[in-house]
Amino acid sequence: MANDNERNSMSAEDQSAPSEQGVVAYDRGAAIEQSDTFQNPGLPPHRPRQTDLYPEKERRAERQVVGWFLASMLGSVLAIVAYIALPIEPGNMTSVRLNNLFLGLAIALALLGVGIGGMHWARQLMSSHEVVEERHLSRGSEKSRARAVEIFQLGDEESGFSRRTLIRNTLIGAVAILPLPAIVLFRDLAPAQDAVEAISRTMWTEGERLALDPTGTPIRADDVTVGSAFHVIPESLKDLGHDEGYLDQKALASVLLVRLPLDRLKEAPGREGWSYDGIVAYSKICTHVGCPVALYEQQTHHLLCPCHQSTFDVTEHAKVIFGPAKRPLPQLPITVDAEGYLVAQSDFTEPIGPSYWERLQHVQPEHVQAAAETETRA
Ligand code: FES
Repeated sequence: MANDNERNSMSAEDQSAPSEQGVVAYDRGAAIEQSDTFQNPGLPPHRPRQTDLYPEKERRAERQVVGWFLASMLGSVLAIVAYIALPIEPGNMTSVRLNNLFLGLAIALALLGVGIGGMHWARQLMSSHEVVEERHLSRGSEKSRARAVEIFQLGDEESGFSRRTLIRNTLIGAVAILPLPAIVLFRDLAPAQDAVEAISRTMWTEGERLALDPTGTPIRADDVTVGSAFHVIPESLKDLGHDEGYLDQKALASVLLVRLPLDRLKEAPGREGWSYDGIVAYSKICTHVGCPVALYEQQTHHLLCPCHQSTFDVTEHAKVIFGPAKRPLPQLPITVDAEGYLVAQSDFTEPIGPSYWERLQHVQPEHVQAAAETETRA
């Protein structure tokens, strides 16, 4: 401590004055003297493997590696046999499954055999000496850097890239515009139809009969007992071919039909005539992200979406009572025709399916009103 104080009180001239031995001494200032600098610990001691110490273990590892390579050969042969012996017959799904199953198993055995055998060989039998590889600087030498600059300047000079500014600028313009055709072509990957418009109309029209999914059998009001739930499609859907958008139309128009005890049914104002004798119909497409709401709890009259557990109360115009959905399920107005079959009074009065930000801009004016009323009540 006394020495430090003495050194600190020395003047600058004193500090740089030569000592008796002719060595200039400088003050350490704020620098921290490291007395315990980190030492390179070096490599850990080499630990011999069992196969290095015991010849019988080495021979056993060798047999294991050979065994894996033989298994790989067997897998390759089996793959060929499976391909020939189990051909795929058009229209026969069993033949497809058998072919895929045995071909896959055999190829997996072939690949695993090579992989595991190779790893076992490397880990147990190949040399296990630790090796240190010195790394050189990734920066080039001054000479090679200077040479690179020289080549670059020579190229610039010979091509006239800097000198011929008109050519250079038009080249830059050409390269900049080059991606534009790709952007225009990729634009065609967007949906051809406005998404909201696409879900604003379904196959339901006035007088369209409600039919069982998937048979297409029309449903009489008398067949719907209290507590029962029917998966429903428009009757005319069965006339659509698969290439005429059958699946798309079915996804839009799917409905769940439920009959409630009349004393449990609380109809929303303005929708008093939308049910028939306690029978109500709601879109089956969840208003969260569009899963089919297909689980009906008979005792509570709740509809449950299996995806994220949104729960809708059928007794109260399918309002959301639990889960992430934000809107009630759209209701399909129904009645019966002269023969007692259930029919739609119209299409849904709001777009079916998930909620998202553009929805209300695209809904028909009467839909906006109905949706706003429904959401206010919910
Ligand atoms: S899709 Fe129904 S709760 Fe998420």
